[in-house]
Amino acid sequence: MINQHYLEMLGHKSVIRELSEYATARGKEIGYENVFDYSLGNPSVPAPESFTAGAIDLLQTEEPVKLHGYSPSLGLPGVKQTIADSCNRRFGMEYTANHIFPTAGCAGAIAHAVRAVTEPGDEVIIFAPFFPEYLPYLQDAGVKVVIIPASFADFQINFEAFEELLSDKTAAVLINSPNNPSGVVYSEETLRRLSDLLRQRSEEYGHHIFLISDEPYREIAFDGQVVPYPAKFYEDTLTCYSFSKSLSVPGERIGYVAVNPAAENAEKIVPICGQISRGIGHNCPSSLIQLAMAKAIDDTADLSVYETNMNLLYDTFQELGFTVQRPGGTFYIMPKALEEDAVAFCRKALDYDLVFVPCDGFHAPGYFRVAYCIDTEKVRRSLSAIRRFVQEAYGR
Ligand SMILES: Cc1ncc(COP(=O)(O)O)c(C=O)c1O
Repeated sequence: MINQHYLEMLGHKSVIRELSEYATARGKEIGYENVFDYSLGNPSVPAPESFTAGAIDLLQTEEPVKLHGYSPSLGLPGVKQTIADSCNRRFGMEYTANHIFPTAGCAGAIAHAVRAVTEPGDEVIIFAPFFPEYLPYLQDAGVKVVIIPASFADFQINFEAFEELLSDKTAAVLINSPNNPSGVVYSEETLRRLSDLLRQRSEEYGHHIFLISDEPYREIAFDGQVVPYPAKFYEDTLTCYSFSKSLSVPGERIGYVAVNPAAENAEKIVPICGQISRGIGHNCPSSLIQLAMAKAIDDTADLSVYETNMNLLYDTFQELGFTVQRPGGTFYIMPKALEEDAVAFCRKALDYDLVFVPCDGFHAPGYFRVAYCIDTEKVRRSLSAIRRFVQEAYGR
């Protein structure tokens, strides 16, 4: 008999995937260049030369049996040290190689982090709006997901609801800044308040509440700002990082968990992740990709296009009277739809070949997400379609 749980999941297709499939099909009819496909969070710029040249050099110069051999189950020691050194330099941390666990992107990092610090049945808190994949990531680990409603005024943390829903069953709290879908960056003030509260409740409940910080967009920050590093604020933090967006290599599946050396049982968490891997069949990213990533550790793809695109869209949405928060990073913006039902709004936008994603699945009903990881030239052409849509459908 096949598994009923996964069979049921098959019936709930991702809205984002469905819209993306629609965009591809429409592209076949009218030419993909004429479809303003803002559905998927797929990077649109090439990987930096340091990554490509590094991978080529490895393939040409390393001994193949060694290069393509199994990675140790906890990752290649030299690569782990390179990651630790980079984070120490950039964020003033004190990681050693023993605090770093290479993973298949952030998805792999979260899968390990959540299992490492929870038992099935524990509660894990997440904050709306959130990446919809958090639900399968967490539910498949057997934990109960507790959702804190959004703070619609600024998309920082809704502390009133958070204080109420934190409980002695809370084992971990999962945050994501810069945020998918809002583009908002959590301020130092938010992180300080969050940390103080977690420290206070950990003491009250007699167990450490872990912070799992999901940071795939850390390098895509606007206006020259450096995104505050949550582990700097809270000891019991597991940082989940991915090179998918920073190096533009999402298909290579490379990221890591970094365990704050000041966390409870910090020295045991990476070895525990190795045991989790055995159960879920993860078995570390490929040796070649770990080594190529290490050669490009402090580099990024040219991410400036995202800021250019954000400014074009933000200015246009503002000018058209949308309620919208200016993103501090990522390649997403999340305006409020011009009618209560964002699904209906997004459906009407399709008539103008504008593919937006309603944010109901992100727990921000009434809002829609625009993923502007597309060419700036296309963004510019889309602006007149947005104006026409808003004018004809909503009289603005
Ligand atoms: C908020 C967030 N977390 C995690 C992921 C998963 O990223 P990865 O490709 O590194 O597995 C994504 C991917 O888009 C994301 O947006």
